[in-house]
Amino acid sequence: MKLFIDTAEIEEIRKYAFILDGVTTNPTLIMKSGRKFEDVIQEICKIVDGPISAEVTTLTAPEMIDQGTKLAKIHKNVVVKVPCTIEGLKACKELSKKGIKVNVTLVFSANQALLAAKSGAFVVSPFIGRLDDIGQTGLDLIEEIVKIYKNYNYKTQVLVASVRNPIHVKVAGEIGADICTCPAAVIDAMFKHALTDVGLQKFMDDAKKVKK
Ligand code: G3P
Repeated sequence: MKLFIDTAEIEEIRKYAFILDGVTTNPTLIMKSGRKFEDVIQEICKIVDGPISAEVTTLTAPEMIDQGTKLAKIHKNVVVKVPCTIEGLKACKELSKKGIKVNVTLVFSANQALLAAKSGAFVVSPFIGRLDDIGQTGLDLIEEIVKIYKNYNYKTQVLVASVRNPIHVKVAGEIGADICTCPAAVIDAMFKHALTDVGLQKFMDDAKKVKK
């Protein structure tokens, strides 16, 4: 499974760059960074050599196509993120025809994911944490989408988004999702285990006692 980071914070991206396959951003993350949209995307593209999602901030298909075409010109690795609406999927189809990779975001149902695949999406982003928040099991949706895409051999990749904890990542991998995009805190938690710390401390202590 590919691992992406879901952030617009450059220092977080630098910290984990060695294990990252790509980066996802959204308007909220860009706003939190306090920086200009294009500057952030350009800088991220210099750090990680993989798909970098940059989201449109328009609502009609012609506007999204126009904005998406401009975003794609920032760098060859930019993937244009559009919302899963009728207009968004129209834009997805047109942008994909032009050879621009599209990430269909704000996906909350298997049928939305099916429509995104039919519109030529490069990746689809189901938001599992936000489903958990309202009492639906987000990971069930990942299972459904992976199954449907397999049934019909869709090439669209399943990018698990709105990840809140390491269990989300592990189960996404068990299900066979293509990509998991995680906030820095989740990536950090993935590295850690109390027994690693205890074991390392013991090895370090014992190493000091070895005869010189
Ligand atoms: O980038 C999209 C998604 O990962 C957002 O996550 O935590 O705002 O639901 P969250």
